[in-house]
Amino acid sequence: MIQKMIKLRPKIALYEPDIPQNTAAIIRICSCLGADLEIIEPCGFLFSDKRFKRVAMDYFDKNMIKFYQSYNKFFESKKNHRVILMTTKASVSYATFNFKADDTILFGRESAGVPKQVHNLVNNKLKIPMMNNKRSLNIASSVAIILAENLKQNKFVNHG
Ligand SMILES: C[S@@+](CC[C@H](N)C(=O)[O-])C[C@H]1O[C@@H](n2cnc3c(N)ncnc32)[C@H](O)[C@@H]1O
Repeated sequence: MIQKMIKLRPKIALYEPDIPQNTAAIIRICSCLGADLEIIEPCGFLFSDKRFKRVAMDYFDKNMIKFYQSYNKFFESKKNHRVILMTTKASVSYATFNFKADDTILFGRESAGVPKQVHNLVNNKLKIPMMNNKRSLNIASSVAIILAENLKQNKFVNHG
């Protein structure tokens, strides 16, 4: 039973990320807080990029990331898993949502979010409420907020 609980980790999925420093900051967040990272390609930068390396430091190991060649492949693999889309266009606040320990939480591309086809494939869409007339949070900040909420609700079972 304890072993089963240890395997249940949230998954942070990034749709075609395009800013190396953001992905690097998210790698560090996932590594420190205990989440798996998934990337839907194409990725808008190379992992050898100096800007990426400077932020990722020794938190980066390519084996820690699961890559999907397309969003179709990503959703095929999620038939038995709940996917939650984080989007400023949602009407439901994350603060009212019951997270599961193994949810996959999908974040959009920095420049454009996710396309309509991806929106249409997800039932659970959440927002982080913001002050009026603000466009969006930085993606790494929004990952930290949502991951912390998921782990808090699931009692930080794997943490020291
Ligand atoms: C910089 S934002 C993208 C902005 C983009 N122009 C758009 O319209 O979606 C990058 C990603 O961070 C997440 N995000 C940022 N602020 C958010 C918020 N207030 N609520 C939910 N998700 C948010 C979303 O997943 C978003 O796609």
